[in-house]
Amino acid sequence: MSAGMQPPDGFQLEVKGLDVAYGDCQVLWQAELDVRKGEIVALLGPNGAGKSTLMNTISGLNKPVAGSVTFEGKRIDGLPAHQTVGEGIAHVLERRRLFPFLTVADNVLLGAHNPRARASREETRQRVEALFPLLKARSTQLANSLSGGEQQMVAIARGLMARPKLLMVDEPFLGLSPRMVDEIGTLIKRVRDEEGISVVFIEQNVELALGLADRGFILESGRTILHGPSSELLGSAEVKRIFLGDFAY
Ligand SMILES: Nc1ncnc2c1ncn2[C@@H]1O[C@H](COP(=O)(O)OP(=O)(O)OP(=O)(O)O)[C@@H](O)[C@H]1O
Ligand SMILES: [Mg+2]
Repeated sequence: MSAGMQPPDGFQLEVKGLDVAYGDCQVLWQAELDVRKGEIVALLGPNGAGKSTLMNTISGLNKPVAGSVTFEGKRIDGLPAHQTVGEGIAHVLERRRLFPFLTVADNVLLGAHNPRARASREETRQRVEALFPLLKARSTQLANSLSGGEQQMVAIARGLMARPKLLMVDEPFLGLSPRMVDEIGTLIKRVRDEEGISVVFIEQNVELALGLADRGFILESGRTILHGPSSELLGSAEVKRIFLGDFAY
């Protein structure tokens, strides 16, 4: 198998045995995650479980102490974030992190700074605008004048400008109204269906997350304790225990 190819029936992204620590404090223990090409995968777990840490380690913002991250047949653990973008992984950080005093258009264009994306920036912009008509309508507005849901759309659009093969979004639904939650969910599906981009997203609401995702991975206290197809997880007593507490029975 040559570099860049993925094995038939294999995983596009495969995280195995990942240990991550902040200084002396270990927060991930043998964490696992895998994504097939074209899948939508939810990463679930209570506050402080290590969901963002896992995503940050995949994108190269954290370095693992042990374990491996393989993307399209290539080991990428330990690569810095600007290189994982070049490999085809875009990461939309928690709380969106837009530049508040830049326009919507400039925030979006900043996503295309890696050399691979820069060459086709104009074509990508048109494709991204077709997915998000809002971007064109609001292009000259400052980012901080948009609603939370609109800012989330800009953040996702900026991620897509990098021309990723895998889009990772940390809590895209956080603090949004039900109508905006629907809109962002629809957008995530279109990103997969129309662009063929795999998606991993973090969300704490089990029904919402598994209603959108093909499969889910559940982290508890830094360990991947359960994963499987969304329909199986939705019926699982273990999932109810983690998210509702034992008293629910
Ligand atoms: N930069 C850091 N330095 C030290 N500890 C950190 C750092 N970032 C996170 N932690 C700790 O690591 C653990 C996991 O945090 P993480 O943010 O990955 O969890 P999470 O599942 O994303 O939580 P949330 O749902 O609140 O976003 C927590 O105990 C947190 O306090
Ligand atoms: Mg988090």
